[in-house]
Amino acid sequence: MRDQKIIIAIDGFSSCGKSTVAKSLARMLGYIYIDSGAMYRAVTLHALRNNWINNGVPDREKVIAGLEDISINFKFDAKTEQNTTYLNGENVEEKIRSLEVSNNVSPISTIKEVRQAMVKFQREMGKKKGIVMDGRDIGSVVFPDAELKIFMTASPEIRAQRRYDELVVKEQKVSIEAIIKNINERDHIDQNRKESPLVKPNDAIVLDNSNHTLESQLEWAMQKVSEIIGE
Ligand code: DC
Repeated sequence: MRDQKIIIAIDGFSSCGKSTVAKSLARMLGYIYIDSGAMYRAVTLHALRNNWINNGVPDREKVIAGLEDISINFKFDAKTEQNTTYLNGENVEEKIRSLEVSNNVSPISTIKEVRQAMVKFQREMGKKKGIVMDGRDIGSVVFPDAELKIFMTASPEIRAQRRYDELVVKEQKVSIEAIIKNINERDHIDQNRKESPLVKPNDAIVLDNSNHTLESQLEWAMQKVSEIIGE
């Protein structure tokens, strides 16, 4: 590949397989991969631990004031070839994937001040380009000038099954019904929130991966990259 490094923004609904594509693409290109959802999840975990969320409703003032005490980092684990999320120096990679965090993350991510803090950090990480970031507002807000924007979708049934398979592997006991409920609720909040709702940027290319293998998705994405960097 030529030396030109670009920013690749991958947005879409939850459990669409964004992170699988983003991670693989980053590995193939030698780019950094950043899961922006992990940052919102880490803030949610911190808020839950401090009892700042009651019955799904965050205490905004406390969450906003608490942002000052949060430091989120990613470390690359060479063994697993995965990024690991750290919250104030603690490895929280597993904990942020629990259903409890999933059930509370959308209300946290509607808070403007939370978003501002996350976006600032995300932009810093993208300064040198050579980055693949996935989320909900990466192409629309974080990197509106990203050279490649992909908007991913998949059918709700396929998304629920993927989430279920992921959690079963991690030995978390959940029903498929609970997952569907969580996915529907998050879709609704993500699309309808006032601050940076999930939208497809006009210049994003849609990838519906309901019936595509990972290989064919990567081939498609690498073709798009080549068209941009000229190989
Ligand atoms: O990608 P994920 O499912 O791990 O994201 C968790 C939540 O974080 C998701 O419900 C919405 C929110 N989020 C967001 O608002 N903006 C992003 N860029 C990434 C995630």
